[in-house]
Amino acid sequence: MSDRKILITSALPYANGPIHLGHLVEYIQTDIWSRFQKQRGNECYYICADDTHGTPIMLKADREGIEPEDLIAQVGKEHLADFTEFGIEFDNYHSTHSEENKHFSSLIYKRLRDDGHISSRSITQAYDPVKEMFLPDRFIKGDCPKCNAKDQYGDSCEVCGATYSPIELKNAISAVSGEKPIEKESVHYFFKLADFNAMLKAWTTSEGHLQPEVSNKLAEWLENGLQDWDISRDAPYFGFEIPDAPGKYFYVWLDAPVGYMASFKNLCSKTDLDFNEFWAPDSKTELYHFIGKDIIYFHALFWPAMLHGAKFRTPSAVFAHGFLTINGEKMSKSRGTFIKARTYLDHLDPEYLRYYFAAKLSAGIDDIDLNFEDFTQRVNSDLVGKVVNIASRCSGFIKKRFAGQLSPQCAEPELFHQFTLASENIAELYETREYGKAMREIMTLADKANQYIDEKKPWLIAKEEGKDQELHEICSMGINLFRLLVAYLKPVLPKLATESEDFLNIQSQPWPTNAQPLVGHEIKAFKALMIRVEAPKIAAIIEDSKENLEKTAVAPAKIFEPIADEIEFDDFAKIDLRIAKIVKAEHVKGADKLLQLTVDIGDESLNIFAGIKSAYKPEDLEGKLTVVVANLKPRKMKFGMSEGMVLAAGPGGADLWVLHPDDGAIAGMRVK
Ligand code: 2FM
Ligand code: ZN
Repeated sequence: MSDRKILITSALPYANGPIHLGHLVEYIQTDIWSRFQKQRGNECYYICADDTHGTPIMLKADREGIEPEDLIAQVGKEHLADFTEFGIEFDNYHSTHSEENKHFSSLIYKRLRDDGHISSRSITQAYDPVKEMFLPDRFIKGDCPKCNAKDQYGDSCEVCGATYSPIELKNAISAVSGEKPIEKESVHYFFKLADFNAMLKAWTTSEGHLQPEVSNKLAEWLENGLQDWDISRDAPYFGFEIPDAPGKYFYVWLDAPVGYMASFKNLCSKTDLDFNEFWAPDSKTELYHFIGKDIIYFHALFWPAMLHGAKFRTPSAVFAHGFLTINGEKMSKSRGTFIKARTYLDHLDPEYLRYYFAAKLSAGIDDIDLNFEDFTQRVNSDLVGKVVNIASRCSGFIKKRFAGQLSPQCAEPELFHQFTLASENIAELYETREYGKAMREIMTLADKANQYIDEKKPWLIAKEEGKDQELHEICSMGINLFRLLVAYLKPVLPKLATESEDFLNIQSQPWPTNAQPLVGHEIKAFKALMIRVEAPKIAAIIEDSKENLEKTAVAPAKIFEPIADEIEFDDFAKIDLRIAKIVKAEHVKGADKLLQLTVDIGDESLNIFAGIKSAYKPEDLEGKLTVVVANLKPRKMKFGMSEGMVLAAGPGGADLWVLHPDDGAIAGMRVK
């Protein structure tokens, strides 16, 4: 048993949306590392939690008419179910909305404050006078002060790339209420990051703490001087109140990383682990954070400074990874490549994706691409064609001709030795997160095993008289090589490994440094360990992901993303807008967001699936008037044909209006 004690984290997912394939790059990368460490005999804990605080979560709960606590409980369950089915094995999954997190966030704050690292001053910010709340930049929209582009967020322009303060935005409106924001002052609390300049310079440049490209980027930021970090937000805010400042809350990014400690503390309360052994300044244990490259600033500057200032240990390293592109492009809802974990799970084996990501991952921060053709080809050729095939080629003979018994001696000790000799090299590649290289090494071994079988041709020997021993030894050798391959692949493919261990009738395999061949050992009957990726399943994932878009239909302040900035009058004139009477409104079995409406448009009735369930009960709609696009080409949706479109207005959730106010209007009237 090694004496390494390792604590590993992945970034905490926000509790306001589902896990998608982009998230999974990180959880799969981390889980592989954690499983690898455990297989090597190290004491290792992989912890995570939902990131539950902040304005978007508060507003989402508000829109859905539920308490934030209920929203985060529900989302937390869904996240954990998705992770579990993808084989992500946390030692603890917690929530940042927890007693432990409140305790450590307050403790860290008080220690920083008592050592003079917190300041406060009044600042002016955009305020929504209707919702009576300060507006985060992302909740203000308006025209870019530089290029006048319309409908830009309060912090930056997606058209010209300018960054600015929301106060500079022209014709600004609140995305929450639609009202014009006013400017309002309030006192904020700041963490004086510059106090840690020297410490951070040393920490970010010390060997092993950061990847070289990350360390270089940070050197630029440090050169430019560190600004005070605003760590408070005013009520209403879903989070923890600051101990000595009633009505002020910790900004979500203050308590999010503290969630790592909180989750570990929660694990300690369920086990005999010693919290201080892992978090005291002189800890001998290792602490690693796996994160996306977009949140380096928080993890490589704020977090080490907070920990150091509050007299806790700093991380052993922060490992950043790149983003996921799909078929070479950013994930896109309209192309059906914004794929939720759940949608993938509905159709394909999660181990395919674990292997594919492993094959693409390196220690760097480059983006990785999921190309579905390459995915299909690689999984089919490597896992099914090379690895599993070895077992299926050899096990039949062992079962039928030798009663499931492997031969009493190893036919090719040299070849077996070559396979165990590779173990340290492969281990080093896992350790340094060069998973792509590790997969290539393992596949080279798989090629060797297949070559061995191809050369020996057991299927011919089986037909020859008096060659039973030879046949027995060749097939047993194949099974022994297969066993080592699945041991090497175990961090990536835990399900395949466990099922193979069952078939091989062996205990859970440790890292096979000192593995000896299985001789005179009885194996079980072979059953298919993995089937080929079928192309129609991928098409179905993409199709369902498009459907997700239709089901979610409403985004804040914008119902649909326009495909053109401007349309011609003639385009508009093609739309047949009618006042329609809702004759029938019903729930749709299995749909979270949709209602099925039968509407009378005067000369006919249409069946329409509308994403308005969050705002209306069916019984409140029947007999009412609404406006529909009557000549939209019927579209096949998961639950049936939709023959039109109901026009809705509002930010979404409970704030969505579809009803026509004019009681005197008649169904079928064209809208002028
Ligand atoms: O970027 C995000 O999705 C954040 N929820 C990550 C938080 S990581 C940690 F600091 F909690
Ligand atoms: Zn602009």
